[in-house]
Amino acid sequence: MERRRFLRVGGLACMAGVVMSAGSVGCAGSRCIDGTIEGEDLRIPLASLMSTDGSPLKSVVVRHASLKWPVALYATADGGYRALLMRCTHQNAQLKAGDGELTCPAHGSAFASDGAVMNGPAEQPLRRFPTRLEGDALLISLKA
Ligand code: FES
Repeated sequence: MERRRFLRVGGLACMAGVVMSAGSVGCAGSRCIDGTIEGEDLRIPLASLMSTDGSPLKSVVVRHASLKWPVALYATADGGYRALLMRCTHQNAQLKAGDGELTCPAHGSAFASDGAVMNGPAEQPLRRFPTRLEGDALLISLKA
């Protein structure tokens, strides 16, 4: 395996290690869906981002068995989605996704739907992942 590929795969393995073992997630206030891993992406069918009346959901929690922390998706004004790792930047507790914010059950930090810190003790914003549309799916790039 060439060095560049080794580093990329190794980086993904580290990311998977960081993000592993998602069990039950903080879905209160948001729909929880299971994504699929395709290469370096977490894939979600666009249909799963719609409410029963056909309107887009404002927030969704995406999980996968290989992810330690789920990913919160928040709809943006331009029709896209922002993807945030649900890992508190204070001491790595799993966040709870609510309508427009994420809260930490450990020590009370709160984050806005863009990942910015609203309340400490956390000081750093949440990790964000790029998203893109591809056919009938939304892809979250986990390599970024
Ligand atoms: S781990 Fe989240 S506030 Fe401490």
